[in-house]
Amino acid sequence: DWIMGNYIEEAVAKIREQVGDEEVILGLSGGVDSSVAAALIHRAIGDQLTCVFVDHGLLRLNEGDMVMDMFAGRLHAKVIRVDASDLFLGQLAGVSDPEKKRKIIGGLFVDVFKAEAAKLKASGEGHKGATFLAQGTIYPDVVESGGTKTKKATTIKSHHNVGGLPEQLGLKLLEPLRELFKDEVRELGVALGLPHDMVYRHPFPGPGLGVRILGEVKKEYADLLRRADAIFIEELRSTIEPLSGKSWYDLTSQAFTVFLPVKSVGVMGDGRTYEWVVSLRAVQTSDFMTADWAELPYSLLKKVSGRIINEVRGINRVAYDVSSKPPATIEWE
Ligand code: XMP
Repeated sequence: DWIMGNYIEEAVAKIREQVGDEEVILGLSGGVDSSVAAALIHRAIGDQLTCVFVDHGLLRLNEGDMVMDMFAGRLHAKVIRVDASDLFLGQLAGVSDPEKKRKIIGGLFVDVFKAEAAKLKASGEGHKGATFLAQGTIYPDVVESGGTKTKKATTIKSHHNVGGLPEQLGLKLLEPLRELFKDEVRELGVALGLPHDMVYRHPFPGPGLGVRILGEVKKEYADLLRRADAIFIEELRSTIEPLSGKSWYDLTSQAFTVFLPVKSVGVMGDGRTYEWVVSLRAVQTSDFMTADWAELPYSLLKKVSGRIINEVRGINRVAYDVSSKPPATIEWE
């Protein structure tokens, strides 16, 4: 609309003024904030922006291709896709402690990003290299890290982010979403032409499926989990709750599938099976600090479990997580 159109014009002018003829790199994750930041900065400075998309092999089904289609394909932005899945899965082999897994994934992410930034700088051809690092920091992130809130005495989970990266890289920061709340970021994304489904997606943690595969992460587990999770999300999107007219995807704040490294006995035809178990997780929350498990209709749960067990060979049992936060957390690790 008109207000958003004005906002975009102002934001674009500000970015152009701040960046001048210098170059910017941005870590694209496929999440809402980095996507909207990329679209806005690209609108302002075009090819002076290079996006680096690190695929750690722990993304959802087809996510990497979707990010590339959107940014390289439709927006014609410069995007470097780094397939680092072998590196991440290699370093994660044999590691089952959740905090260690988080540290490894976060650390590798920074390493890969730094290496790409250095490569870009060395690539020459009149290329001076980036002097700005763009981040999709939004207002609630600023408040959280600004000491305005008292720091929690205990860290429950070490969150994956790229804090400290600009200093390490010797880059100036460009954070065009710093003054916006999440709902404003989403409206901006739609106004910039990003698809509604991408902009209104549930949050996805930085460590990705790494914290949704309990214990040791293996490619085999990630591949099974991706397929099971895609079925769950597809059914949530296509099942409409009649009173509100909304889909169960929109009625939940976050929903996903968790891989349990446990085998259970089942029966198929006249044979016995001994295969993996997954759990569905769906919550409703306004702030993600507390959350209620979602009372999904039994008919939906039934359809999802039937499809997963029939379509994903290797999984023979589906459970539903009926734990609220606290005392459980939303993610299982
Ligand atoms: P928990 O599991 O602590 O999660 O109840 C609360 C919210 O935070 C998300 N989450 C993360 N987001 N990096 C992120 O960007 C992380 O390392 C991370 N760990 C959890 C989680 O998905 C939920 O929305």
